Amino acid sequence: MLFWRVKPLDKILETAEKKSLKRQLGAFQLTMLGIGAIIGTGIFVLTAEAGQKAGPAMMLAFVIAAVVCALAALAYSELASMVPVAGSAYTYTYGVLGEGLAWIVGWALVLEYAIAAGAVSVGWSGYMNGLLNSAGVSLPEFLKTGPMDGGGFNLLAFLIALVVTGLLVIGTSKSAKVNAVLVAIKVIALTAFIAIAVPAAKDPNFQPFFPTGWGSPLGGIGVLGAAASIFFAYVGFDAVSTAAEETKNPNRNIPIGLIGSLLVCTVFYLLVGYGAVGSVGSQPMFDANGVALHPGSPELAAACKGSEALVCSKEPLAHVLRLLGFQGMGNLIGLAAALALPSVILMMIYGQTRIFFTMSRDGLLPEILSKVHPKFHTPHVITVITGLFVATFAALFPVGVLADISNSGTLFAFIAVSCAVMVLRVQQPNRPRGFRTPMVWVVCPLAIAGCLLLFLNLSTYTLSMFFGWAAIGLVVYFLYGYRKSHMAPGNAPASGPTLEKHPTFHEGPDPGP
Ligand code: ALA
Repeated sequence: MLFWRVKPLDKILETAEKKSLKRQLGAFQLTMLGIGAIIGTGIFVLTAEAGQKAGPAMMLAFVIAAVVCALAALAYSELASMVPVAGSAYTYTYGVLGEGLAWIVGWALVLEYAIAAGAVSVGWSGYMNGLLNSAGVSLPEFLKTGPMDGGGFNLLAFLIALVVTGLLVIGTSKSAKVNAVLVAIKVIALTAFIAIAVPAAKDPNFQPFFPTGWGSPLGGIGVLGAAASIFFAYVGFDAVSTAAEETKNPNRNIPIGLIGSLLVCTVFYLLVGYGAVGSVGSQPMFDANGVALHPGSPELAAACKGSEALVCSKEPLAHVLRLLGFQGMGNLIGLAAALALPSVILMMIYGQTRIFFTMSRDGLLPEILSKVHPKFHTPHVITVITGLFVATFAALFPVGVLADISNSGTLFAFIAVSCAVMVLRVQQPNRPRGFRTPMVWVVCPLAIAGCLLLFLNLSTYTLSMFFGWAAIGLVVYFLYGYRKSHMAPGNAPASGPTLEKHPTFHEGPDPGP
């Protein structure tokens, strides 16, 4: 499967030139785009899950996940600067490792983007329900969360995913100005949280520091289990690379955007984690035998009934402030999350449709999926299909379960990208590289090892979902893509519809259809 039907990089670059999206994004805007895509449900919601898995040692989990992401970002940057085209890890893998692996990576990216959009929708619903409660309006318990979380159908998560899908169909794209405002809201909210929670930190809240230990492979618990989950909080920096086609001087600006946004977010996350743990404590809930309960399990949902513990909250940052006596600030944090999270959902569903679009343009998925709406000029078919799936997952699954499944796909894609960087160094050492991964033979193997470590510390449930999805993908490939691929002998060369009118990110007000 390796090195089979490799799509030459020059051919990929040619397709990109034909599409010629306007190059208008600079380093600052890319960093903002990255921060806009990164800060979301991970820090606002999964802090509770990380606490349940690792207790106060979740702070170490934040550091471990950040290091793994930084290593992966260094690898990503080299490929993004060499192949500045849409499709991210899927396109890179196609150009280096061949079609078979590219298909698997593209298929895994569905988990990264679509399932992540579902997770963020559930996170949004948690904060919205909290805000509604504070305003004295409460949905029936059945409609507040999905079945695994003690409810039945997460209505708000379902609705927000559909609303965002509708916006994407009518051609809403990411306005640079709107993004800047939302980034500012998130940064101000996190800064306010840090300013209140960090000074309230008390030593006893850090004891015991390691209530669940480091964790063990396939255990999904402990510090490494928490790192594997909280990794979700950093996902999104690769959205920067998907804007490569629209970036001025991508060789310089893409790496700055990737690494810059990651650095800023890491600093915020560490301070937020310290503040949350130190101010109210984050000891996990245990069963009768002293074993920490799994996030997303009905047992944890039952144990959490009526509990004020941080690890039980669906809106942990707002909850911490309320516990500290800052009711109004808690509500404001909730409002900030409610305002800002939909843009993360939008970017995730958008990223998904872009990847499906590229795969369909390569002949690996039916052409109908890349059909462009006559009036709105958006890939409406694939957007609606994606949106319906996202909404359904969001209505039925807990945020932690969706985030972990999304992480499995993302970690797999990062492993493929890191391999591709090394292969390309050997195969095409003289191809110009705008950005060279420093100490590539150390950084890339470490990135692979780090991603594998996190991957293996996801729960068995998550990994079975990942491998099940991969198996379905292989069947689909051999039934369809294998024969229809534009790289298959006798098939048409890659061409087809383009989406010139809809850049990833635009300046000024929404251009509309
Ligand atoms: N990193 C993004 C979030 O936390 C996906 O929501």
